Parts: sequence; C-alpha cells; structure tokens
Amino acid sequence: MGDRPMGARRQADEASERATFWDEKFGRNPELFGTAPNAFVAAQAHRLAPESRVLELGAGEGRNAVFLALLGHDVTVVDVSPVALDGARRLADEKNADLTLVRADASRWHPGAHWDAVVTTFLHLLPEDRPRLWQRIDDLLVPGGLLIGLFFRPEQRTEGYTSGGPPTPDRLVTLDELHAHYADWTFHVAEAPETHLSDGMMEGPAAVVQVVAQKPG
Ligand SMILES: C[S@@+](CC[C@H](N)C(=O)[O-])C[C@H]1O[C@@H](n2cnc3c(N)ncnc32)[C@H](O)[C@@H]1O
Repeated sequence: MGDRPMGARRQADEASERATFWDEKFGRNPELFGTAPNAFVAAQAHRLAPESRVLELGAGEGRNAVFLALLGHDVTVVDVSPVALDGARRLADEKNADLTLVRADASRWHPGAHWDAVVTTFLHLLPEDRPRLWQRIDDLLVPGGLLIGLFFRPEQRTEGYTSGGPPTPDRLVTLDELHAHYADWTFHVAEAPETHLSDGMMEGPAAVVQVVAQKPG
C-alpha cells in the first residue's frame, strides 16, 4: 500500500471503513431495511423494458434487486459489504430469484460491461467521492439507459428528521447536484419531496430526492 498515491490510499481506506461499518450493522440486524422493495423503486419499475439488464449499486441485502429479478430482469448487484451480499444471497435463494453478486466499491468499479438501467437507493458517499460515482453510473449505462435513484437530501439532517440516513449532511444529495452532473440527460422524474419511508429501520417522514434520468441515446 505504501507506494500508492495518497488519493488512492484514502479512497481504499474509506471503502474498507464503509465495508466494516455496514458489515457490523447488517451483522447485528439482518434484514435491516426489510425484504420488500423501496416504494419509489417499485413505483418506477414499469419504466424498465422487459428483460432489462439492471445494475443495483450499494444494493445492501438485495430487497430491490430481488424484486426486479422476479419481474424478469437480469440483475447484478454491487456492494462493498460482504455481509450485505450474504443477505442478498439469502433473500434471493429464499425467493428463488437469480442475482449476480459483486463485491466492489461502486465509485471505482470498472467491469467493462454496460447495463440498461442503474438503480441505487440510499448510497451516500463523501462529497469528494460522489462525482466519481456519478461518472461511473454514466459510464456503466448504455446510451438511452435509465438511472433510478433515491437519496436523502440535506434537510434530512438540518430539519431534524429521524427516519435514518448518515449523521452529517455532507453525504446527502441535492437535485441541483444531480442536474449539474447529468446536465444533458432527460429527467423523467426529479423531485425533492417529504416522503414516508417504511423501509425496515428507516421508518417515518423523510426528506429525499428521487430521480429517473435517462442518458442521451
Ligand atoms: C443505507 S444502505 C442501503 C442499502 C440498499 N440500497 C437498500 O436501500 O436497502 C447503503 C449500502 O451501500 C453500501 N455501500 C456504501 N458505500 C459503498 C460503496 N462505495 N460501494 C458500494 N456499496 C457501498 C453499504 O454496504 C450498504 O449496503
């Protein structure tokens, strides 16, 4: 590790710290976010063409991925936490769903493949890492591919919501940030509502951004 540039070392440390953090959380509380898909993902799934190749980044224990696989999509999940991926494997086996599981840092993963859609819910990286994540999403999608994304926005912390999310607002996401990065994309959905979460330990009113954005064809 000693001869790697500082930036690469810091990133590796952050990814391994995140893996440990989430391994412990999922280890203590399996099915932390439940086994049902997130409501926004379920509501937007009709936009996916039949048998789409779908990639879920930061998929946790696979609740969205399994739901999408059971709709007939070909689903790959990426997560940094091996314990999360064990949970996804368990849920997939229980529901008889087929998933491809990959352990990787989503902001650094270069598989050399492309997907029709990327789904991501509550993947909250540091501000210095997010531009790379947004770029990875762009690179991983085919032309015309869809991003279905859901994140807490800063008001989740600054306005005292208690339904979950990172402890500080710097990891949270605004619509402006997404619009700025995906300036030439078509946003079919771009909302910053107060929603109600029923996602396992994330329960109650929440300040979120939710997007369905399409990469130029
Ligand atoms: C709040 S959980 C959400 C899990 C899932 N999306 C859901 O809604 O049930 C965040 C997930 O992102 C994963 N994660 C955090 N940083 C990551 C990174 N850099 N690359 C891939 N996964 C990451 C964590 O391991 C965890 O499973």
